[in-house]
Amino acid sequence: MRAVSPNKHISVLLQPFLDFFKGSNIRTFFDGTLGAAGHAKALLKEHPEIELFIGCDQDKEALSLAKENLKEWEKKVKLFHGSFVDMDKYLDQLKTPCVDGIFIDLGISSMQIDSEVRGFSFRFNAPLDMRMNTEMELTARDIINSYSEKELEFIFKEYGEEPQYKQAAKAIIATRRRRKIETTQDLIDVLSGVLRKKRGHHPLTLVFQALRIAVNDELNSLKAFLAKGIQRLCEKGKIGVISFHSLEDRIVKNFFKEHQEMIEILTKKPVAPDYIECRKNRRARSAKMRFAMRGKNE
Ligand SMILES: C[S@@+](CC[C@H](N)C(=O)[O-])C[C@H]1O[C@@H](n2cnc3c(N)ncnc32)[C@H](O)[C@@H]1O
Repeated sequence: MRAVSPNKHISVLLQPFLDFFKGSNIRTFFDGTLGAAGHAKALLKEHPEIELFIGCDQDKEALSLAKENLKEWEKKVKLFHGSFVDMDKYLDQLKTPCVDGIFIDLGISSMQIDSEVRGFSFRFNAPLDMRMNTEMELTARDIINSYSEKELEFIFKEYGEEPQYKQAAKAIIATRRRRKIETTQDLIDVLSGVLRKKRGHHPLTLVFQALRIAVNDELNSLKAFLAKGIQRLCEKGKIGVISFHSLEDRIVKNFFKEHQEMIEILTKKPVAPDYIECRKNRRARSAKMRFAMRGKNE
């Protein structure tokens, strides 16, 4: 059983990401979702002027992979294990009041979704875990076996936009009275007769998404991060976010709109991958990238 898949993560929207920094003089940068460090590496290559590159990932395995991949720049790279929500802490520790660029590439990496043991995917039978940071306590198993019917409905409806959220919650509660639901296969057994396939996706796609978002508190983290992020951007510094579902994209879009007195929105419409990228990398299909700049263009 492998904890980390050897499959390589393909960075999404890599060239459009680099294009937003073309011609910029970047001295300091913060990458809040290093993953395999694909975006980080490409930026460091293209911007040798970078003096300090701060990065974090809440997944320890991802962080050690990133460290390996960024060896060439080890003198200027400072890595932290933890959430991007704690960006203030990392910057304060490095006595860096502001940075010229901030970037997060949300969701899960190929290493996580292809892991046979971490419970992110319905393709493998594994304990219902789904924690990106394995030092946190709450797992998907805890949610499935202890949350009330109403709480489960909320998670499936709000984080998964699962139309059959009521039936899903009901089936889980009924099963729980007889036995615990411990593994991804247990959950599939409970729900596959209840949920319909949607637009060619596996019937449990939205439930798995919802649980992952709840376990990792993804939407609240994104909101908290955006609020801190724009405060720590230097004048004319840029902030970019790649999201993978409409819930996240809506948060970014609304946040940028609500802070237009502080920032200039650089993407009236989100940047999406082209046909060729989607053919090469299925994970890219739902990606959307938005960028904004601190201050105003003259
Ligand atoms: C899509 S991958 C990033 C891939 C990376 N941009 C690359 O090109 O290799 C997302 C990564 O973000 C991490 N992550 C998600 N939410 C996070 C958070 N709140 N704080 C820190 N890392 C997070 C995940 O653990 C995962 O490794």
